[in-house]
Amino acid sequence: MPELIVLTCASGKQCSQIIPLLYPQSSLFKLRLVVHSPSSLARLQEQYPEAEVLQANLDDPHDCAKITDGASVLYYVSPTFQPHETQFGINVIDAAVEESKKPGSKFAHFIFSSVIHTHLRKMLNHDRKRYIEEYLCESPLSWTVMQPSHFMDNTIGRLLKLKDSPEPVFVAAQNPDIAFSFSCVRDFAEASALVIKERSKHFFATYQLVSTWPIKYSEYIQAVGSAFGKTIKVKWAPYEEVVDMYAKFIFGDVNVDLPLKEGPARMLLYYNGRGLLGNPRVTEWLLNRPATSPAELARMLVDASEKQAQ
Ligand SMILES: NC(=O)c1ccc[n+]([C@@H]2O[C@H](COP(=O)([O-])OP(=O)(O)OC[C@H]3O[C@@H](n4cnc5c(N)ncnc54)[C@H](OP(=O)(O)O)[C@@H]3O)[C@@H](O)[C@H]2O)c1
Repeated sequence: MPELIVLTCASGKQCSQIIPLLYPQSSLFKLRLVVHSPSSLARLQEQYPEAEVLQANLDDPHDCAKITDGASVLYYVSPTFQPHETQFGINVIDAAVEESKKPGSKFAHFIFSSVIHTHLRKMLNHDRKRYIEEYLCESPLSWTVMQPSHFMDNTIGRLLKLKDSPEPVFVAAQNPDIAFSFSCVRDFAEASALVIKERSKHFFATYQLVSTWPIKYSEYIQAVGSAFGKTIKVKWAPYEEVVDMYAKFIFGDVNVDLPLKEGPARMLLYYNGRGLLGNPRVTEWLLNRPATSPAELARMLVDASEKQAQ
């Protein structure tokens, strides 16, 4: 009998690469994919006909009970920049605890996809996850915390569009001189699938999952450019414009309420003055291979699009 694995934010960039690593193993795993929007519900139902796709409101304890019902593993990705993010996490943990107490419960593992350095309280998207980690650690569940950094995948699509430009210029959303340890979704997804499959080996561990040593944002941009033989000029966009761009991209509206807008606004302020530094060795130890560099990811994406065009 396959085990039920539940993934939240199933339409997002993390799950989009985790699901394909689990979905083909239907004799081992049955997937429940949790979404928020009707458009994601329809898209995932079509893409994964063998999976159960569930639309849920994480603010509703009844919906959270539906998410966890009959589950063995819950892979919890927290919704992006939601002011009630902490409460959503607590609601889902509470539901998992109730599930684990049911007679004959199969519930075995709560995996929280968090963020690197949750103790950095100046960023709301980190601070809100800090409380979820604390609540999970103090719960009676067996857990693992996965902590990615800023994903190199976020801007790589925009960079690859410059491939055929004679004088490529990249408009950067953040200070190009600040260093980051970038995560790569490919590495993060592979580590996540491993933790789901190996389970108890990873109980009570917190893994910092970055793919690069600290490199300046400009070095990341140039590493991607080098993959298609171009030197890319970098122009740093004004802060207010970038905050508006984030609001439009994440919430669909530049004029969203302040509690929504101040999440990306505070993150960008932090990114412009400080970076996110980490060490890729945990990723490499887990995956037993070198982590993916920005240039490698760029080459993989260029190769894939060239193959598709043939
Ligand atoms: N981007 C980065 O570089 C980065 C780095 C580290 C950590 N993170 C964290 O990763 C998490 C996001 O994961 P992701 O990057 O895979 O997602 P994503 O690509 O940013 O997509 C956003 C997801 O949030 C869901 N969502 C939006 N509003 C929601 C709500 N009110 N209730 C439930 N779900 C809602 C969307 O579901 P629908 O499509 O159904 O609306 C979608 O799956 C965030 O917690 C973020 O802080 C991001």
